[in-house]
Amino acid sequence: MINKIQKEVRIGIIGGGLMGKELLALVRRWDALVNHPIRPTVTAVADVSSDVQEWFRRAGVPKISSDYKQLLDDSDIDLLYIAVPHNLHEEIYIEAAKAGKDFLGEKPFGIDLQSATKIAKAVEESKVFVRVSSELPFFPGAQAAIKYANPETLGEIVEVRAGLLHSSDIDLNKAINWKRQNQFCGDIGVMGDLGMHVAHVPLRLGWKPKSVYALLDDIVPSRKNKDGIAIPCDTYENAVLALKAETSTQKRRFPMFWEMKRIAPGESNTWFFHAMGMNGGVYFSTRNPQVYQRFTYSHGEQSWSELQPGHKTNWPVITGAIFEFGFPDALLQMWAAFLAERDGALGDRFACATIAEALEAHKIFRAALTSQNSNSAESI
Ligand SMILES: NC(=O)c1ccc[n+]([C@@H]2O[C@H](COP(=O)([O-])OP(=O)(O)OC[C@H]3O[C@@H](n4cnc5c(N)ncnc54)[C@H](O)[C@@H]3O)[C@@H](O)[C@H]2O)c1
Repeated sequence: MINKIQKEVRIGIIGGGLMGKELLALVRRWDALVNHPIRPTVTAVADVSSDVQEWFRRAGVPKISSDYKQLLDDSDIDLLYIAVPHNLHEEIYIEAAKAGKDFLGEKPFGIDLQSATKIAKAVEESKVFVRVSSELPFFPGAQAAIKYANPETLGEIVEVRAGLLHSSDIDLNKAINWKRQNQFCGDIGVMGDLGMHVAHVPLRLGWKPKSVYALLDDIVPSRKNKDGIAIPCDTYENAVLALKAETSTQKRRFPMFWEMKRIAPGESNTWFFHAMGMNGGVYFSTRNPQVYQRFTYSHGEQSWSELQPGHKTNWPVITGAIFEFGFPDALLQMWAAFLAERDGALGDRFACATIAEALEAHKIFRAALTSQNSNSAESI
């Protein structure tokens, strides 16, 4: 099939670190998408690091700056991807909105609830199109699990578990970075770092947490910086939240467990979603991403089946259905959804996380901090 003519969208990146570089790589794989209405190009990057500037210069990005405000004033930029440390979200997201620029903002969308609320207000006033980054639900197995987790299939929900498990901080010799210091990543610690990934699907399915009991764990008290000087590592590495949630389809509130861990020994970057009901259930994990499991209870028999979703994606791709899907593919799918939704072309496909979902997640994380301090369950 020959693709329709695409509209060009010129993207400026603010913050060209780990995630900013991924965007450049994925727009250069854009032709993997079938009949997408948009053709994005990265035309500008702003980053305070000269190494990052040089990386993008060598990669052929035409406009490089150390001052993000230059991108806001540039009429040749249609939208922004903002991927900076959490303490900078409020200022830069609000400035972007005021400048009338649409953007995809990295999670947690503000360092705390107060900050996220201010950003949401600025976006609403400026009427710009904004979504929040969360790519892992775009795995085909996750998409299949989300579709399966409907009230008819599950029946009365018994319990739900969701999580993102890293082991990236198990190495005590890893130099400290901004993600391990409250002043840059926020008091919510790992919940800011990994929480939106965990919250996206349960919130999208309409499961509303009403109370939380939190176990937050600051495991490593200090780390050395690159010069070997010990710096307080004053952030929660791990968070386990026991939530009680409600839905519009059942009277009883059900337990939901969210795990967000930077130190989960034995894990790499495992995102999982597990919902069990009286009639059926579903489980998907990126640890074994080529399959997902479905549970049914019928005629007195409990049965699990394992299915292979293949490379069946939210937005169609040229890649053969038998090939394997991975993290960069999930990012490509998230951007395909973001740009198609902005263009009014997403239809009923799965959409990126919204500002309302980011605010809801922040409310849960704030209540979790209160619960940690009070050592009791808190309402949300
Ligand atoms: N979606 C995901 O899977 C995912 C993964 C990792 C991080 N993130 C999020 O992405 C954001 C950035 O994280 P990262 O891992 O890319 O961090 P990073 O440290 O690798 O990159 C951040 C970049 O921002 C730059 N920067 C700092 N101050 C700046 C300023 N005033 N103007 C312009 N640039 C500035 C830094 O020089 C750095 O290059 C965070 O919000 C984080 O939570 C998302």
